[in-house]
Amino acid sequence: MGNQKHQPVGVFDSGIGGLTVANAISKLLPNEQIIYFGDTAHMPYGDKSKGLIRLYASRITDFLLYEQNCKAIVIACNTASAAAYELLRDKHKGSVPVINVIDPMIEAVIADDNIKKVGIIATKTTIGSGVYQEKLTRRKPALKFSAVATPLLASMIEEGYYNDNISRAVLESYLSNEELKDIDALVLACTHYPLIKNEIAAFYNGQVKIFDSAEVVAAKLKWVLEKEGLNSERKTADDLFYVSDFTESFERTTKIFYGQQIRLEQCNIWR
Ligand code: DGL
Repeated sequence: MGNQKHQPVGVFDSGIGGLTVANAISKLLPNEQIIYFGDTAHMPYGDKSKGLIRLYASRITDFLLYEQNCKAIVIACNTASAAAYELLRDKHKGSVPVINVIDPMIEAVIADDNIKKVGIIATKTTIGSGVYQEKLTRRKPALKFSAVATPLLASMIEEGYYNDNISRAVLESYLSNEELKDIDALVLACTHYPLIKNEIAAFYNGQVKIFDSAEVVAAKLKWVLEKEGLNSERKTADDLFYVSDFTESFERTTKIFYGQQIRLEQCNIWR
């Protein structure tokens, strides 16, 4: 199991959204080998029960640790972070660092004192878990917030609908919600949403600060690897990208998420 510098970093999501995080990691930490797992067979996670997401997240983590020999795990999915982070962290405590996408986002938001009211948009499971609401209240009680579920967005993006009339109409409908009135900042609490970040910024005419998880999570991983003495000094193998169900649309879309063509390998870890 993972405790050596040259071993890879495991990154997983329900689908392609987590590639936004993997991409930020590969830019910030070019010496790290990434092993990515997109659970496309079970996507979307956003309307599944906590119990089922925990089951999926545990199996994927076991695959990354015991079959791929990863030295650290990044849960590049807000929904899986909300449902399964504590479970995975406690299970692997003392052996492998497990990083979620939610805590680094909370840190980034509370560090900005110009923000008086923040909106949070995410899947139904993430919003329903109350994790963002609870952590923001605990860390910065004076900060006002409004959390709104936007269940269509992840599937819409995964199907390739962004920067078009469909995504504009869906976003307009969600972002016009009264709950999101008067916000100074909006947290994109789903790793699929960086793809629609520009459309969201345009909706607000650049007047609302938009937070997405990719860079903050990569920075957190860097910090953790250095602290644990696990950072690699040179890249020893190519990155690998696994999916639990291969589709052509998935492979086409990865290019936009990752910035370059990726070779996907189907890997059914539930057999
Ligand atoms: N990318 C995932 C997240 O960050 C969720 C998408 C899904 O519903 O599967 O929440």
